[in-house]
Amino acid sequence: MLTASLCPTPRLSPDHPAAASSAGPTTSPTPPGGAAPASRPAASAPNGQKPLLSVTNLQTHFPIRTGLLQRTTGYVKAVDGITFHIAPGECLGLVGESGCGKTTVGRTLLRLIPATGGQVSFDGTDVYAASGRELQSLRRQMQIIFQDPAGSLNPRMRIASIIGEPLTVHSLVTEKDQLRTEVENILERCGMPRAAADRYPHEFSGGQRQRIGIARALALRPRFIVCDEPTSALDVSIQAQILNLLSDLQRDMKLSYLFISHDMAVIQHMCNRIAVMYKGKIVEEGTRDQVIGSPQHKYTQALLSAVPEPDPRRKRQRVVFEGMAT
Ligand SMILES: Nc1ncnc2c1ncn2[C@@H]1O[C@H](COP(=O)(O)OP(=O)(O)OP(=O)(O)O)[C@@H](O)[C@H]1O
Ligand SMILES: [Mg+2]
Repeated sequence: MLTASLCPTPRLSPDHPAAASSAGPTTSPTPPGGAAPASRPAASAPNGQKPLLSVTNLQTHFPIRTGLLQRTTGYVKAVDGITFHIAPGECLGLVGESGCGKTTVGRTLLRLIPATGGQVSFDGTDVYAASGRELQSLRRQMQIIFQDPAGSLNPRMRIASIIGEPLTVHSLVTEKDQLRTEVENILERCGMPRAAADRYPHEFSGGQRQRIGIARALALRPRFIVCDEPTSALDVSIQAQILNLLSDLQRDMKLSYLFISHDMAVIQHMCNRIAVMYKGKIVEEGTRDQVIGSPQHKYTQALLSAVPEPDPRRKRQRVVFEGMAT
């Protein structure tokens, strides 16, 4: 179902200095920009294909403020120098346990959170240097689907406005009738009835709300979407439907995804390439077959060993990685 035009990619070995990190999201008294973590070598770019998105040595450090005067006494290094590339039509999975910095990566590269350091380039445009029309164009082309479909939809707005507003803001549609038709078409593409446009978010189930969240992200016809745990708030049967919808949309609209999840099984189903994140760093990256078939880093092995075995007669050896939540 997924586009798979990918070539074997170099992987970081477990004894790579960056993979040997023991801290993070690290807290440190070091100010960002001071003794920042060493830059990692470029992870991988699919051979022969110009990446659509390039993230280089990205860092996001949050200040820790203490005391009455709220002095900065250290930094949470939520993202600590990570590098990856995504080709057109590719789905890169970013997997790691809760709190390792996945959401912060997604939000920082979209400029929803300021970066402490590093570069992000989208189709040759420097995302952090863009302003005016260039920035507006990036905002249209780079979208996000949030984990919590309820919290990400304005409860006071009808679905028609939630999906239609970005289209008017970006002047993609000016006629009222055309706007309505466009909204209904997108809803239908996402498996919702056209009449849903007249209703409010609270009138829908969790799965339906996530379809609406996907429709909103698609309205501007983006080229790249950060899918931040889009199914983790849904029950298993609905999860499968939403994952299939995302796969179909990716294929039909030639979309690129950064697919964030803590669930290795979901990542395995959706992604051509996988980057494993641990405490602010990418500790291993490779094609799906490489990472799933022969994981190099102990943390990846531990994540894989935690995936439930469907056959109860087969017992999987559980690998425990020091510092990992069990
Ligand atoms: N605005 C913020 N201010 C301070 N610390 C933050 C902020 N946002 C995130 N953090 C910290 O950064 C770290 C990474 O958080 P993040 O939400 O990116 O993790 P995650 O991998 O997405 O986790 P989950 O799987 O639970 O969603 C956490 O330690 C978190 O507490
Ligand atoms: Mg998250």
